[in-house]
Amino acid sequence: MKHDDYLCNWKRLKMKKLYIETYGCQMNVADSEVVASILKNDGYIPCSDPKEADLILINTCSIRKNAELRVIARGKQLQALKKNKHSLKVGVIGCMAERLNEDLFEKLKGIDLLAGPDSYRNLPELLKKTSNNVKASDILLSTTETYEDIDPEHYQTGNITAFVSIMRGCNNFCSYCVVPYTRGRERSRPVQSILREIEQLNQQGFKEITLLGQNVNSYKIEDANTKYSFPTLLENIAKRYSQMRLRFATSHPKDLSEDLVKTMATFPNICNSIHLPVQSGSNHVLKAMNRRYTAEEYLTKIELLRKHMPDITISTDIITGFCGETKEDHQQTIAMMRKADYYYSYMFKYSQREGTAAAKLSDDVSDEIKGLRLQEIINLQQELSLKHNQRDIGKTYEVLVEGFSKRSAKQMFGRTEQNKVVVFDALNIEPGSYVNVIVENCSTATLKGKLISGFRAV
Ligand code: SAH
Ligand code: SF4
Ligand code: F3S
Repeated sequence: MKHDDYLCNWKRLKMKKLYIETYGCQMNVADSEVVASILKNDGYIPCSDPKEADLILINTCSIRKNAELRVIARGKQLQALKKNKHSLKVGVIGCMAERLNEDLFEKLKGIDLLAGPDSYRNLPELLKKTSNNVKASDILLSTTETYEDIDPEHYQTGNITAFVSIMRGCNNFCSYCVVPYTRGRERSRPVQSILREIEQLNQQGFKEITLLGQNVNSYKIEDANTKYSFPTLLENIAKRYSQMRLRFATSHPKDLSEDLVKTMATFPNICNSIHLPVQSGSNHVLKAMNRRYTAEEYLTKIELLRKHMPDITISTDIITGFCGETKEDHQQTIAMMRKADYYYSYMFKYSQREGTAAAKLSDDVSDEIKGLRLQEIINLQQELSLKHNQRDIGKTYEVLVEGFSKRSAKQMFGRTEQNKVVVFDALNIEPGSYVNVIVENCSTATLKGKLISGFRAV
């Protein structure tokens, strides 16, 4: 639901405008929606133009050096808006605020406040402090914060699909990764709080929910009355909201259980699609990365998924050029990509992060070799993605319609449960409806289809 629908005009006029720019993972998108909710109670309404804003927040990511450099460059542009509007406040929140803390006041001299991922409740207090032109910061991490009583403002992902955070933090300490340091210890959000949010989304007409955590498989709530694991949580939601599609991210391969696979296979509204980051196909690199599975164990999980759901699509993350990665290791990653037959991959050059275990290893693969290896796996992924899509030609899929295609006003688009984008000629289908589409053509990234009769109106 859009804000305009439920805020009457007189109230809106009195509210100040908040612009949040979000970088990084889906969890940051969900967090920006938590922040928008906290600040709504403090008199701020989200807007989409930074020039209109009274408060600009940049929700940042520290995962790779480039991600941070981009934010610094953008932060300079945004803080410059203060020249024309002296009352404007600019803040940096999220993982970079956590990692760099007050160094950021040096790098971005115009910013007024910093808040780490567990300090968002404190934003109104921090803002008060900045009213006297004092710089304010809070980066204290918590072991318990899940923002369980906050109802996020779902304004960033349209009104058909939404992200719902089910846990925070990470305990896995993959050797290259900064997340356990920027997000703190893993903790699960109470079931009732998750169900409350999904019920609201259902009432607002959302049709697809993605449950989020750095490793959703380790979701765990245990108290005197309840015992929930990720599969039991998923089952509970799937049964209550059988008309909604359910997705989740991310699954750490070491914790992907047969229970989860069977739950996915049992409930038709849990999408047959999974993001299962492999990182590398070489056992010696996986060990150095502290991933705690071997390539063989990983492939066993893929077999299990395909045994129970033959039409499942599997996507992954790959880091290329990790410390000590040889030509042979790289070839093993290529072999893994072919064996796992990924539908999609997010591929990155290794970026050394200060304070992680891998920062003590030698970053010994040159940038040039990292670049060449990256290009090689990108090319391979394009080949695999195209083959995947070609195999769909002639098949019929149920598609959840999301809206009009950007390219043509005569075309609409949606997704299959396998998370593939399908474009088809249509003019007047209500977004949020399910339609049947027969695939007639494809590119690497998109299926092109024809609408066939019999759509499920919702
Ligand atoms: N929790 C998720 C992913 C979190 S970060 C998981 O474990 O899969 C998203 C991806 O960024 C990671 O899967 C990894 O491929 C990549 N990444 C993390 N740290 C990185 C680094 N230092 N250099 C390059 N890529 C990195
Ligand atoms: Fe990082 Fe590993 Fe945690 Fe994912 S599981 S967030 S890669 S430490
Ligand atoms: Fe980036 Fe923080 Fe997410 S480092 S990937 S925004 S958890």
